[in-house]
Amino acid sequence: MYKVRVEKVVEEAVDIRSFRLVRCDGAALEPYEPGAHVDVLGPTGVTRQYSLCSPPDDASGYLIAVKREAASRGGSAALHDRVREGAELAISAPRNLFSLAADASEYLLFAAGIGITPLLSMAYRLNRLNRPYQLHYFVRSREHAAFVRLLESGAFGARATFHVGLDRDAVGHALAGCMAQAAPGAVAYTCGPAAFMQRVVEAGERRLGPDAVHLEHFQADPAAASLPAGAFEAELARSGTVIVVPQGTSLVDALLQAGCEIDTECREGICGTCVIPVIAGEPDHRDHCLSRKEKADHKKICACVSRSRTARIVLDL
Ligand code: FES
Repeated sequence: MYKVRVEKVVEEAVDIRSFRLVRCDGAALEPYEPGAHVDVLGPTGVTRQYSLCSPPDDASGYLIAVKREAASRGGSAALHDRVREGAELAISAPRNLFSLAADASEYLLFAAGIGITPLLSMAYRLNRLNRPYQLHYFVRSREHAAFVRLLESGAFGARATFHVGLDRDAVGHALAGCMAQAAPGAVAYTCGPAAFMQRVVEAGERRLGPDAVHLEHFQADPAAASLPAGAFEAELARSGTVIVVPQGTSLVDALLQAGCEIDTECREGICGTCVIPVIAGEPDHRDHCLSRKEKADHKKICACVSRSRTARIVLDL
């Protein structure tokens, strides 16, 4: 973790504040790939992931934007209520699970609400590379839109479209219209509430094909917690050891109890830290960090939330 100082706090929109972070020791921060996020250890000891939304090549500081969540459990509310300019926080190095494809003919970026943050860093990079893109930002009202002045100016101005106050049908219509204009070989990226992203996926896959829509999740799937969590066996291929994963115990906990060294961060299937290669067996994927193709290939498992469809799964451990 790095120690960082909050250099600037800006009220960006209703319930959204941005925090510019610089290193306490004055050193440069690492450049990062657009779409990356950092873990932020807040004043209540709670760690949350936030996308970086400053220009990715600017190593002088990172910008994050935080939406105060109504059901905050000490993460976003503490950053809003207790962190002022000059405060010190700890952050991780950037990690990226939401990378921009290098070779698309066009990039369609669909944000809703605070989901603008990873897409803003992508737009910065696409501006710099002079690649064709469109940024579509869906918001309840202009007052709920972050970075409005930035998105209406300069290189962003010609490429950012605000979709304000649309009802459900109008959102579907707007998404279909955006997709209809996409160039062959275009890819789409989306971040926002799960229901919004699902609609982008449906509209995008109809027009652009499977795996052309990429999502960024920041919350675990609440439905996953209610799925059956029956027992299975995990075989460690390098030693031949077989570990029983009991009903209700996660694979990662069973592996840790058996002495395996597995790093974890979010434990919600989001960050990708605990992903393990699979040699045989069929994972029951319940995560948000593996791509659709990776899930179909059954060559990896996210050990903190996923289980096994087969009685035994063989891991490359
Ligand atoms: S610890 Fe984050 S995905 Fe498993």
